[in-house]
Amino acid sequence: MRVCVVGSGGREHVLADVLGRTADVVVTPGNPGIPGSTGTAPEDVDADLFVIGPEAPLVDGLADRLRAQGKLVFGPGADGARLEGSKAWMKEVLEAAGVPTARYRAFDHDEVDAAVAYLETLPGPWVVKTDGLAAGKGVLVAHTIDEAAADVRAKLAGESFGAAGRRVVIEEGFTGPELSVLAICDGRQAIALAPAQDFKRVGDGDQGPNTGGMGAYSPVPLAGPDVVARIMEEAVTPTLRELSRRGIDYRGVLYAGMMLTAGGPRVIEFNVRFGDPEAQVVLPRIETDLAQLLAEAAAGDLRTEPRFAADAAVIVVCAAEGYPASTRTGDVIEGFDEARAVPGVELYCAGVARDDRGRLVTAGGRVLGVTARAGDLRTARQRAYEAAERLRWPGIHFRRDIAAEAAGVPVR
Ligand code: AMP
Ligand code: GLY
Repeated sequence: MRVCVVGSGGREHVLADVLGRTADVVVTPGNPGIPGSTGTAPEDVDADLFVIGPEAPLVDGLADRLRAQGKLVFGPGADGARLEGSKAWMKEVLEAAGVPTARYRAFDHDEVDAAVAYLETLPGPWVVKTDGLAAGKGVLVAHTIDEAAADVRAKLAGESFGAAGRRVVIEEGFTGPELSVLAICDGRQAIALAPAQDFKRVGDGDQGPNTGGMGAYSPVPLAGPDVVARIMEEAVTPTLRELSRRGIDYRGVLYAGMMLTAGGPRVIEFNVRFGDPEAQVVLPRIETDLAQLLAEAAAGDLRTEPRFAADAAVIVVCAAEGYPASTRTGDVIEGFDEARAVPGVELYCAGVARDDRGRLVTAGGRVLGVTARAGDLRTARQRAYEAAERLRWPGIHFRRDIAAEAAGVPVR
């Protein structure tokens, strides 16, 4: 089978890697760190299966355009991708499906006073989200109402996130550990992959602003098969059914971003694609043929039951100076081969480019991810950090506490 992966980040790198175990893979546009990258537009690539990585082209209808050409595509059309493209619409679907989620209301740019008044009806913490896409950075969890109100004003005025922020969702804040459950859907049924936990804040101890994700690990000790089954039953399957009831044939990943609260699992968000960096710890552990699994889902005929290795994987994302605010780019990446030499380690390239001397340089906020596998979480974590320490560029930073709590080790 020949598979075309669309996208250019760490998620697409791991997709290419794992699909490449059983298929020929081409990645568009990819990046200089991903073998098989091509400049050819997806519409002009000849492949048996297209796997679309990021949300933006999905929201933009790339899956529809490829399907109109008769191609087999893993990834929802623009109708289903709206689940991630509009948080207000997602909340409406969840409500209709009876899925447990936070109380909320959506406000337009001319409803600042109503939005602030709504904040006052919630007990706090207060959560303010841009309605539109903001690369994982459009969410503020505020611990004072003043902070929340200031954020609402900046977003609705278009100051902080441009058009994506001129409509906001305000919701009640939950507390508890987070869990990412990625389910493969064929339009009718959904099958869960191994769960993962993601670290969204930039700093240790969950301090600082939200990012696209600074690290992850899988499996998650506190999320056994019963927890995942409950999330499938209460959140993912009813959502897929509701989409289907609305005439949406959803074939792709439903990513349930959950919070495990004292009252049970609650949906924080749905994404319409593999999580990044969750994919980089979930997919390497899969033992079934990923190309076959995704082709079945794309064809509306999921039969393969995914199986996972009994080991553990940890990813530490290495970021450029300044991320998640403005980032410095163009710095030479050193220590790549030394990092890869650590046993069980793979590097997944995201924000990288080649300079005119052919050297790999930083070209984005999340530069690359170091994934390590081992028989247990503690060893996987040690290996990931040993490799991350070998990477060097000016201003490199990464969290020191990825998977520390789950592995039962003090933060180094
Ligand atoms: P989202 O982009 O909606 O996933 O939000 C990004 C992050 O903000 C989540 O991973 C949580 O850490 C936090 N967050 C979002 N919604 C809530 C909520 N209702 N309560 C607490 N934290 C939240
Ligand atoms: N890691 C979070 C996301 O992919 O949205």
